[in-house]
Amino acid sequence: MTVMVLGISGSPHRHGNTETLLDSFLEGAGAAGADVEKVVLKDLNYQSCRGCNLCHRTGECVVQDDAIALFDKILAADCVAIASPIYTMGITAEVKALIDRGQYLWARKFVLRTLYFSDEHIRRHKGIFISTAGQNWDHVFDGAFPMMTAIFNGTGFEYYDNIIANNMDEYKGIRNHPDAMKKAGVKGKEVVRVIAQLKEEAQAPEKK
Ligand SMILES: Cc1cc2nc3c(=O)[nH]c(=O)nc-3n(C[C@H](O)[C@H](O)[C@H](O)COP(=O)(O)O)c2cc1C
Repeated sequence: MTVMVLGISGSPHRHGNTETLLDSFLEGAGAAGADVEKVVLKDLNYQSCRGCNLCHRTGECVVQDDAIALFDKILAADCVAIASPIYTMGITAEVKALIDRGQYLWARKFVLRTLYFSDEHIRRHKGIFISTAGQNWDHVFDGAFPMMTAIFNGTGFEYYDNIIANNMDEYKGIRNHPDAMKKAGVKGKEVVRVIAQLKEEAQAPEKK
């Protein structure tokens, strides 16, 4: 049973703390047998939402750039891991711009009512937030969580878990953190096994 895991790296800093943590998660997912793909937002060409609201009438975004193909990938994945460092108490501009561009899916769900995710679909699709922050403050990630809730809800994923590590300034990099890299790998394996099990159950419900 193939499990497709999509990692979205939203840091403008290539191979920095957050992308490295994402890589560890994806390695774990791959080791558990998943098909893994990583997309680096910095390498894509997409604009921020224009707020034209034309999608409320058509269900399509008038701006046909790389964001649309990425949303197609998100919708086709079983698990999506969105990675963003904390920038000024929130997510990066790259990730926020992508989330806003998903407004055409919101329009399909709530205005046009042409898009619907069943509870079963949501249960089998898992979203994970991966983040790092410089400060040693327990609440440093709090501003990011509602935005992750929004994109996971909008694309039919259950918000499965966070893989977060703060105090990067003191640790001087994610590789010096006592356990974050290991935990990310373990979480990658775990989520793939959980999804594979759910997919199997969905295909053979009468076996129970
Ligand atoms: C523009 C900018 C804003 C930041 N704002 C915060 C912040 O508000 N709180 C915090 O704890 N760290 C902040 N940081 C530090 C980063 O979150 C931290 O260094 C992170 O590990 C960087 O991840 P990266 O290597 O993937 O880019 C900021 C860094 C930058 C560049």
